[in-house]
Amino acid sequence: MALTTLIAPDDIQARIRELAAQIEADYPAGEEIHLVCVLKGGFMFMADLVRAMSPRVTMDFIAVSSYGKRTKSTGEVRMLKDLDTGLEGRHVIIVEDIVDTGLTLTYLQDILRARAPKSLRTACLLSKPSRREVQVAVDYTGFTIEDKFVVGYGLDYAEKYRNLDSIAVLDAE
Ligand code: IMP
Repeated sequence: MALTTLIAPDDIQARIRELAAQIEADYPAGEEIHLVCVLKGGFMFMADLVRAMSPRVTMDFIAVSSYGKRTKSTGEVRMLKDLDTGLEGRHVIIVEDIVDTGLTLTYLQDILRARAPKSLRTACLLSKPSRREVQVAVDYTGFTIEDKFVVGYGLDYAEKYRNLDSIAVLDAE
């Protein structure tokens, strides 16, 4: 396995500061913003994003498995860990590592929208538009990338490489 850096740590951090500033500017001053981190891949993006934001942020964590999504266009997403608190009347932002086919995010948006948030938006660090199987709205995108399998900065291959501070392309040799 060979790792080739695609996005360097400084570039990730600079882009996250821009996203944080954009999010802060988009919501009325003083109103709380509730960030929902999608585990596990979203943990590092979430940690850096919230540290670039003001104290009006609250957060929660959800975990889903996307078993079967690569072979079936219908997708098959399962809830592994639900949120601890309700979303009714809150400004909610889903914080995801990457949008690939879009099936996981579509599932998440559907179930969270049903909980009657005041608003629901999505922030994704990475997007691979060429792989999309369903159209899904993403309000804040960090980087658009080509159809390459990437690891690092939260993203894994068989649970490895999540701790890299860069995004790297993983080539099977
Ligand atoms: P989707 O449902 O196809 O959009 O898949 C989203 C999920 O697939 C992400 O949250 C990741 O967990 C995983 N995934 C998609 N592409 C990659 C990749 O290039 N590297 C690591 N994980 C990926």
